[in-house]
Amino acid sequence: MRNFSAYIFDLDGVLCHTDQFHFAAWAMLAKRLEIPFDASVNDRLRGVSRMESLDIVLGEKKNAYTTEQKKAFAEEKNAIYRGYLQTMTPADLDEDVRSTLLKLRADGHKLAVGSSSKNAPLILECIGLGSFFDAVADGTQIAHSKPDPEVFLLAAKLLDVKPDDALVVEDAEAGIQAAKAGGFYAAGIGPAADSTRADFRLQKLSDLLKAPV
Ligand code: G6P
Ligand code: MG
Repeated sequence: MRNFSAYIFDLDGVLCHTDQFHFAAWAMLAKRLEIPFDASVNDRLRGVSRMESLDIVLGEKKNAYTTEQKKAFAEEKNAIYRGYLQTMTPADLDEDVRSTLLKLRADGHKLAVGSSSKNAPLILECIGLGSFFDAVADGTQIAHSKPDPEVFLLAAKLLDVKPDDALVVEDAEAGIQAAKAGGFYAAGIGPAADSTRADFRLQKLSDLLKAPV
């Protein structure tokens, strides 16, 4: 893998694993609304903003509610989700992730987070990375979520690097698309490890260190 000035990491599914919390929180809302919900629906929410996720969860009922009702549903899900997030501690940071970040930092690379999540600051704080990154671009700072490149372009701007000097690491196909649309190199991991759009495919984060970086 070539040398990149900067690395921009997606959060959920790359630096930590909040999938099961999203799943449990959406499942509670769906149950209350008597809407079918399973892991295959949850898989489609990866990298997608909260309100867009709600529409996917509501499915054919997405036009059956007012905007106010939908906002309340999203807040209800988020309150449950944040309750789960607060159980996370620095022990929930994988050793492979921790050591890879430290090595990249020691080698002088700029490091950022690019996440669609409005909960990114809370998650980073809980897992002990609250003040680790050179920049954090998250769902509170953008108008368009992935596959739009806005969040990664913001991260690059905050780092003062050009997109083609940066590698985006993503677990969501929407995130790989966003990276490529922004002119970045993209590495897929987890569910995106077999993405045909990705420039690199990782089994684990430390694969970034395999070649000289
Ligand atoms: C990440 C997750 C998505 C989630 C989105 C918004 O991209 O992969 O599943 O919908 O963040 O998260 P939020 O914490 O703002 O509800
Ligand atoms: Mg993700």
